[in-house]
Amino acid sequence: MPSQNMHPEDDVAAAFNPMAPEQIENPYPLYTRLRQERPVFYSPMLDLWVVTRYADISEVEKDTERFSSVGALDARAEPHPQVRDILKQGYPQFLSLVQSDPPDHARMRAVFGRALSPQRIAAMEPSIRATANGLIDGFVRDGQGDLIQQFAFALPGFVICDLLGVPRSDMQQLKGWSDDKTLLMSATAPIAQQVESAHGFIAMERYFKELLQARSRKPREDLLTMLVPQSMGGTAPLSEQEAVCNAMDLFSAGHETTTSLLGGGMWLLLESPEQLKAVREDPTLLPNAIEEMLRKEPPVRGFFRQVTRDTTLGGASLPKGARTFILYESGNHDETRFSEPDRFDIRRADAKNHLAFGKGIHFCVGAALARLEARIAFELLLQRLPNLRLRTDEPAVRRPYLMLRGFEHLPIAWDVPA
Ligand code: HEM
Repeated sequence: MPSQNMHPEDDVAAAFNPMAPEQIENPYPLYTRLRQERPVFYSPMLDLWVVTRYADISEVEKDTERFSSVGALDARAEPHPQVRDILKQGYPQFLSLVQSDPPDHARMRAVFGRALSPQRIAAMEPSIRATANGLIDGFVRDGQGDLIQQFAFALPGFVICDLLGVPRSDMQQLKGWSDDKTLLMSATAPIAQQVESAHGFIAMERYFKELLQARSRKPREDLLTMLVPQSMGGTAPLSEQEAVCNAMDLFSAGHETTTSLLGGGMWLLLESPEQLKAVREDPTLLPNAIEEMLRKEPPVRGFFRQVTRDTTLGGASLPKGARTFILYESGNHDETRFSEPDRFDIRRADAKNHLAFGKGIHFCVGAALARLEARIAFELLLQRLPNLRLRTDEPAVRRPYLMLRGFEHLPIAWDVPA
């Protein structure tokens, strides 16, 4: 127990409970106090060392020797024997890019660098535009709807299916399995639910393994083909296990995060009518507005690292084996880095210095795709839904997740175009 850094009288750290409804809604006033009074602190509830300042978060992300990503997302608790027995049917560990350190990281990242190259992403623009337009066609005459359920969930889901080369009709199934994977990470759900999720996790592994085998027999122009390992006759310098785990991770990493950017970003614009009007009239403001959305409402609240040796950070002593939670959400509101950080300003000159995509070697490999999807989505929604506004009769509902920030429902209304 890291007692040297615990102050029993110190309620500012004890008040940290990212799952409490008021901290899901608006955690920023508490973060301001934490950055000033207890920038790095231990949360006994989460068994995590929470890092709140921009500079300290950057230090963690840059030092992969002291702060490792290997196993950073694994559940802390031992799995229940029933869950363990099911998981034994799959690979012994989850080996993916985001959970790797050098030199494995560079080897895997090279595969993604090719698969998500700027040319390949730019070439997706017409198909993303057609998908977004098709979704809007489905509800444009209704005059009201739920942005998340009718648009922001489906668009990145279809895009990531197209990118991987899996049928769009599998999107709901993949999302279900991806939720199973997330649920197993915390290992806190009731056992029956964990058992069900363990079956889902194994099914997802098999799904991608079979597709990789199919691609090795018959290659296609898709990302799965680029992930086929050399041992299966493909080109990727990956083991079979790494290829499967990376395919699984890519689906989750590329889907819900972008849903949250679309939902959270639209909410910010609708809460700020002059800025909404400005981007509607001048879409060239959109790229910077999207960076500001990522800064103000980062879809990933924070990420984890394992401490590899006893060390100090932000005045706190962290023991070897501890796990840190680098809170992008707080770093993005750090007043020493951004002036008036709680203000949403689409013209903010340094908005793109946000931490929403991470920093250093793990900087989001899908950032260009997420930015492209967001630019197309906001452009078309603002163009095709006149007088877009939040509905006052239905509340917006946020999702209660430790790692992710975003809306489950965002009820909106607009004037039906003539
Ligand atoms: C707005 C949308 C997105 C956000 C906010 C986001 C956020 C992040 C963050 C914070 C990291 C760094 C994690 C760390 O430091 O360990 C990351 C890494 C990653 N992201 Fe994204 N992401 C988004 C979209 C995407 C998309 C569309 C894809 C795939 C097409 C993707 C794939 C990945 C992968 C594979 C990594 C691991 C990179 C590495 O470890 O080198 N992400 N993302």
